[in-house]
Amino acid sequence: MSRELSRVSQLVRPNIRELEPYHCAREKVQKGILLDANENPFQHLVDGTIVNRYPDPYQRQLRAALAEYLEVKPENVLAGSGSDEVLDWIFKVFCQPGTDAVATAEPTYGMYRVMADIYGVELQEFRLDAEFDFDHEDFLHRVDPAVKVLFLCTPNNPTGNLLSRRRIVDLLERWDRMVVVDEAYFEFSSGETLASEVERFPHLMVMRTFSKAFGCAGIRLGYVVGHSEVVEHFRKVKAPYNLNALTLELGVEALTDLKGTRGQINEILDERNRLDARLRRIPGIEQIYDSEANFILFRVPQASRICRQLIAEGIVVRDRSSLPGLMDCIRVSVGTPEENRLFLDRLEETVKGLKNE
Ligand SMILES: Cc1ncc(COP(=O)(O)O)c(C=O)c1O
Repeated sequence: MSRELSRVSQLVRPNIRELEPYHCAREKVQKGILLDANENPFQHLVDGTIVNRYPDPYQRQLRAALAEYLEVKPENVLAGSGSDEVLDWIFKVFCQPGTDAVATAEPTYGMYRVMADIYGVELQEFRLDAEFDFDHEDFLHRVDPAVKVLFLCTPNNPTGNLLSRRRIVDLLERWDRMVVVDEAYFEFSSGETLASEVERFPHLMVMRTFSKAFGCAGIRLGYVVGHSEVVEHFRKVKAPYNLNALTLELGVEALTDLKGTRGQINEILDERNRLDARLRRIPGIEQIYDSEANFILFRVPQASRICRQLIAEGIVVRDRSSLPGLMDCIRVSVGTPEENRLFLDRLEETVKGLKNE
């Protein structure tokens, strides 16, 4: 019997479309006398979490909690070991090495390119415009037919600004290949999420992470929000037990303490404003970009030298000077008030010292 493929399924690599994924015996029954997975039967608890049993491959509790947080259905979300793993699924599902291509809007997060290089997939580079916004008309005009996936990041790392939501929606209406919107820094921003649009646009995938606002970079937890059909393809390629039991537990816990997280976000935003105001008072700093994230990008002559000097003194910031359009730019994360004060003092002295050379 022939069945018509949806547009999204047409974009999936044929071997993945046909893939019969790994099955485990606990898909339907999770409790009882569990003699199916060759585990050690003696209970081993770590911080109250059972670790002698394999974790839930369906991430049922976490997906239910995420669905509530995002106001989508559990079938619209899937979690990975950081958004890095989600990127891995995107390449596995949609990109045929040596044939397909992806696109980015630069300057942006470097992992999209690294993943393309790992998978042997060409990358067509577009440039953000003078306001660091995505020029969707230029993209539509010039995009190579081999491009299967476009990566956009909003708020964008390292520039810190939101991309125009209207332009992204306009692109989704006019371009029918996959569009990834990386909202890693969403919780710090004043923007409106695109996660609410995944059922309307099956070719939209939104990436999020627990590494930033939720303060959980160490547990490695990121997720994708997408149309249920796309999520099903990701479920087929993910390792069955990709998330350990402790991470699953901590993810659910983080989503039940949203008040605590919101409190920290507000503190970080207040601190970002103070950091921005003091940067503006340092003579020699040429430009400070407005940020919708938990970092600030600024331009200062001899940025690479300044970064090296700060690092030698134990203050680690990110030199972004080599990225297109970011000559002499440094990205600094918002730290604690004390960390920010030390950073600003050292920066001011270093800039003054270089000016007097
Ligand atoms: C835009 C963006 N996406 C994703 C990530 C990584 O997230 P995760 O820690 O979930 O892998 C980062 C980390 O810096 C980032 O800047």
